[in-house]
Amino acid sequence: MIATSDDNSRLTSVTVLGLGPMGRALASAFLNARHPVTVWNRTPGKAGDLPDRGAVVAGSVQDAVQAGQVIIVCLIDYAAVRATLEHSPADWENRRLINLTSGEPAQARQMSRWASSRGIDYLDGAILTPTPTIGTPAAAVLLSGSRDVYEAVQETMAAVGGTTMHLGDDPGQASAYEVALLDIFATSVNGIVHAFALASAEGIEPERFAAFAAGIGGLLPEMITRFAQQIQTGHYPGDRSTIASAASGIAHIISTATSHGIDVGMLTAAKSIIDQAVADGYGPEGLARLTTVLRKAGRV
Ligand SMILES: NC(=O)c1ccc[n+]([C@@H]2O[C@H](COP(=O)([O-])OP(=O)(O)OC[C@H]3O[C@@H](n4cnc5c(N)ncnc54)[C@H](OP(=O)(O)O)[C@@H]3O)[C@@H](O)[C@H]2O)c1
Repeated sequence: MIATSDDNSRLTSVTVLGLGPMGRALASAFLNARHPVTVWNRTPGKAGDLPDRGAVVAGSVQDAVQAGQVIIVCLIDYAAVRATLEHSPADWENRRLINLTSGEPAQARQMSRWASSRGIDYLDGAILTPTPTIGTPAAAVLLSGSRDVYEAVQETMAAVGGTTMHLGDDPGQASAYEVALLDIFATSVNGIVHAFALASAEGIEPERFAAFAAGIGGLLPEMITRFAQQIQTGHYPGDRSTIASAASGIAHIISTATSHGIDVGMLTAAKSIIDQAVADGYGPEGLARLTTVLRKAGRV
């Protein structure tokens, strides 16, 4: 159904605090869904075409908050969120604050306590997908905190598109998913660039190497699913490959990389966990067993 201006007046008014690439994408998605949108950014002049498309640019955080029923904050980090909201004497009555800034689970829980001490209805969130997905079916946003607040904003958040999922009452859960997923990304990027450095030191052309490297990447989805099942059941069969075999393989990588003067810091850290697993008697087990060794190693 095409919304008329009357429909528009019934839609929740949304304020977006922060006009980095993600804040702009969010404001754009709410405009596309015909919500009345107000935006604010610390540094003026970042609104791009949003005002031409109907967004109101507020001159202060207080004015921005007053203009919205749902207030989205999306800044560089939680310190920026606190700095932005702490001294703003806004009236939060009948308003809901959704913090889509990336951070740590403990920061999300602390932010939730801060909001509740001021009587602010609060949800914490994590955006898992890049700016071009926002407002499309490919967007993925996780939210956590009060279910009542989630139910109140669910319809409004549909404008962001794709999957918007509530993970439960613990406000740290969305952030917890995000950091664990970023863990995969950060270590994988390190692995990819390290492999390219090693391959090129051995005279392998990057584009020829890429065809094989992409094949390795293609193995990961099945491995992730299989590991999840093993970690869930606490059963780590070494029928496909073993930790003992991985200990031998990683030693070859470290030796070859060292011979070319390539940094091996991340590999030696990984090797020490594998060696610990072998010392603990897990050599014949599968690689998913390393999760329990990592957790134990972190406690000493
Ligand atoms: N971009 C993506 O694809 C993507 C994807 C998923 C999640 N995210 C998350 O979304 C959040 C925003 O990301 P982004 O891409 O829009 O850009 P960003 O560079 O992470 O953040 C830029 C925004 O933070 C503001 N800011 C920085 N320091 C501030 C301070 N001390 N006080 C007030 N505002 C401050 C900037 O204002 P000024 O203009 O005044 O500097 C700007 O509005 C981040 O937490 C990011 O991790 C982004």
